[in-house]
Amino acid sequence: MNRVSFFSFALLCVILTGSVTMPPRFFSAAAPAPRPPAAATDTENGQRWIFTLQYIAGDYDRAVQNGQIVDSLEYSEMQRFAHTVAAAYQSAPTMKKPTAAALLKLEDLIAAKAEAPAVRALCHELAATFIKEMNLIVFPRFSPDLANGEKLFGENCATCHGDCGAGDGPSADTLNPKPRDFTDPHRLQKYAPHQFFQALTFGVEGTAMAAFGEVFTPEERWDLAFYLMTLRRDFRPEAPAADPQLTLKELATHNNQELAALLTPPGRVRRHPLLELTAVIDYARQNPPQPTTDEYLAITERLLKQSLAAYARGDSAQANLFAYDAYWQGFEMIEGKLQYSLYNKFERIFGDYNTCIEKAGQLKQAQGLMKMLLDILQHIRQGKGWRS
Ligand code: HEC
Repeated sequence: MNRVSFFSFALLCVILTGSVTMPPRFFSAAAPAPRPPAAATDTENGQRWIFTLQYIAGDYDRAVQNGQIVDSLEYSEMQRFAHTVAAAYQSAPTMKKPTAAALLKLEDLIAAKAEAPAVRALCHELAATFIKEMNLIVFPRFSPDLANGEKLFGENCATCHGDCGAGDGPSADTLNPKPRDFTDPHRLQKYAPHQFFQALTFGVEGTAMAAFGEVFTPEERWDLAFYLMTLRRDFRPEAPAADPQLTLKELATHNNQELAALLTPPGRVRRHPLLELTAVIDYARQNPPQPTTDEYLAITERLLKQSLAAYARGDSAQANLFAYDAYWQGFEMIEGKLQYSLYNKFERIFGDYNTCIEKAGQLKQAQGLMKMLLDILQHIRQGKGWRS
């Protein structure tokens, strides 16, 4: 079956039989599968903390400049977020005293209205520590910019790894072991961008490969990690007839073989050659998905509703996590495009909602606050409240 008919077949299966024969990702955009109401795993918590730290690092200078609070709402958010991570980390199974102390130091820096570079450096250091301590598999929040990855590679990596990434740069001869060859198809089929991200962040011990965790921001490291994937000698992206709907997380954390398996309906003989799937995967890696504002609004709404449902079941902790996700995975991604008064209002009510669901038995109040939040989302969806 060629690629075109494979995807039409996939679509037909969905139409005829719903979810029975197909993996959920084929229609995840239309009907996102509700998340199971299990408690968050350590990995999910760790990833959430990293997002929180990245958020503080990115937005702190909107809250404090020259030792002065320039936006009190942003500032109280910075305090709240830093405190949330520090408090949650205390009860983590991987808790280590120096890390807990560094988190308290972050709170102190924010309390002292320290300059942004100091806060940013500590946030990035802590994020790197979490990755290591918890053995985390991380993924980017924003769609990587491969053109920027290419530029950074030329400026910082080509002397060792070579212009085309074949491990044959001018400095390569003097090195033992030699720099990695990123054009080797067999190797690269087994690699996922998150592994490159880790190698870049921490370096490779006992080799000339230095740690770039403090040289580049996480976004820049993702730009590079995704760019490296395109250096494979037989990298041949082809736009698929139908969107395979691979998420940014899947593209960052799965290698090509794993992605091919994801795109292959389980229990069926694979009749389409792996090569064609690779072309689709290559295309998705080169054009990583960037959700639209409508999709971000939908993500926010879905997770908020899941939060209220969890609270109604009496599961405050889960309700809190859903609310948190609604913010990080949804609203935060569009708030910069909204009028200040509107996102300010959303964040105020969102803060009240979070406080409310921390205690049991306030369902009426939680429902009222939720209705206000959903009304704001509806308002935004109607095209109101955007910054002109
Ligand atoms: C001074 C030379 C040098 C520079 C500069 C350099 N690297 Fe490396 N890099 C190496 C060497 C040597 C290795 C091989 C380590 C090994 O064999 O395990 C390596 C390994 C790696 C790996 C791990 C690959 C794997 O298979 O796990 C990645 C990813 C990587 N480099 C990316 C980069 C990027 C991106 C840059 C630029 C920001 C860069 N390197 C700059 C020398 C260098």
